[in-house]
Amino acid sequence: MAEGIPLVGVDIGATSVKVCQLKDTRAGLGLVRLGFSPLEPQTIVDRHIMNSSAVIEALARTFANAKIRQKEVALSVSGQSVISRKITVPIMTTAELDEQIQWEAENHIPFDIKDVHVDYEILRRRPEAGQMDLLLVAAKRDEINDYVQIARQAKLKPAVVDIDAFTIQNLFEYNRGLPPDRTIAIINVGASLASINIVSRGTSAFTRDITNGGNSLTDQISKQLGISFEQAEQMKCASAGQEAGGGLPNKLFQVIEQVSDSIAGEIQRSLDFFLATSGEERISRVYLTGGSANLPQLSSAIGRRARVSVEVLHPTERIAVEAREVDAGLLNSRAAQLCVALGLALRRNKEKRQ
Ligand SMILES: Nc1ncnc2c1ncn2[C@@H]1O[C@H](COP(=O)(O)OP(=O)(O)OP(=O)(O)O)[C@@H](O)[C@H]1O
Ligand SMILES: [Mg+2]
Repeated sequence: MAEGIPLVGVDIGATSVKVCQLKDTRAGLGLVRLGFSPLEPQTIVDRHIMNSSAVIEALARTFANAKIRQKEVALSVSGQSVISRKITVPIMTTAELDEQIQWEAENHIPFDIKDVHVDYEILRRRPEAGQMDLLLVAAKRDEINDYVQIARQAKLKPAVVDIDAFTIQNLFEYNRGLPPDRTIAIINVGASLASINIVSRGTSAFTRDITNGGNSLTDQISKQLGISFEQAEQMKCASAGQEAGGGLPNKLFQVIEQVSDSIAGEIQRSLDFFLATSGEERISRVYLTGGSANLPQLSSAIGRRARVSVEVLHPTERIAVEAREVDAGLLNSRAAQLCVALGLALRRNKEKRQ
C-alpha cells in the first residue's frame, strides 16, 4: 500500500470550490467526504483570485459543511502561468539534476526564471543513448503563493501543489490504468479553461491550457438571446441531454453548437500541434472531464473536429462511497466537475520521489 494518508483534494475553480477526501480501505480507495460551494462570477478571473475573502470564506464553509477535520490539503494551479515540457538531458544522478534543472528550465521555459518554481519528473532513463527524458514543470511563484496563502488563511495546510492536467491523469490512472502502447488525450473543460494532457505510452507527453470553456458558452447565450448571464447559465445547463424543439428556444441549441465547435477547434489545433511535433501518428481516444463535459454537443464537436472517439469519464468508477456524510445527489449531479478534486485527493502526505 502507498505510504502516508491521502490529502484532502481542494480544487479552487472559476465557478466553485470542490473538496474531496478519500481513505484507504481493503477494497481500494473510498470517498468519505465531499464538498461543493459555488463562487460568484468575477471572484476568480483567468485563474487570478480577485476576491480573496470570498474564496477564504467559501473554503472554510465547504470544509465545515462537509464535516472535514483534516487540514492537510493538495491544491492545484493552472492556466497561462503554468507550463510543462518534455525534455531530454544527459544521464545524471538526481543530485546533479537538482542542481542542473534551473539551467535546463531557462532554456525551455518562456518565463523569467526568477519568477517561477521549477519541478521535474524523470520519465525514462535511456542508458544506451546516455540520455534521460524528463517532464519539466514551471509555475509562476506569485500564482502558487496566492493559492497557498488563501488556503492558509482558511486554516488549511497545503502540502502539495499540482496542476489540473496531471490531476486528471492521476485519476484516470487510478480508475483505468494508463495504456502502455497507445496515445490518449485527457481534457478537462471547466468554465474558464480547458486543460489538455496528452499521455503517450503511460507518461504525459504534452500539456496545454486553453483559455476557453463553459463561460464562453454562457456569454454567447446571454448576448445572442438577450438574457442575463445567470439566466443563460441556467438555460445552458437545462439543455444538457435535451433535444432541440423540447421547449427551449432553438437559438439556444444553435449557439451551443456554434461555441462548442469553436472550443473543439482550439482543442483540435493543440492535438494537431502535438501530432506534428512529436512524431506520434494518432491519438486513439479523447477522455473528457470538467463541468462542460456535460454538454453532448461539446464531445460531438471534439470528435468531429479531431476525428477521434470521445468518452466522458465518470470519476468514481473505482472509488466507492464509504461514509453516510457523502451527499449522493451532489456526487451524481456534479460528477464531471469533481475530477480535479478527486485527482488531488489521490496525493498523499508522504510521497516518495520517483
Ligand atoms: N449540466 C451542465 N450542462 C452544461 N454545462 C455545465 C453543466 N454543469 C456544469 N456546467 C458548466 O461547467 C462549468 C463549470 O465546470 P467546472 O466546475 O469543471 O469549472 P471550474 O473548475 O469552476 O472552472 P475552471 O476550471 O475553468 O477554473 C461552467 O461553465 C458550467 O456552466
Ligand atoms: Mg476547474
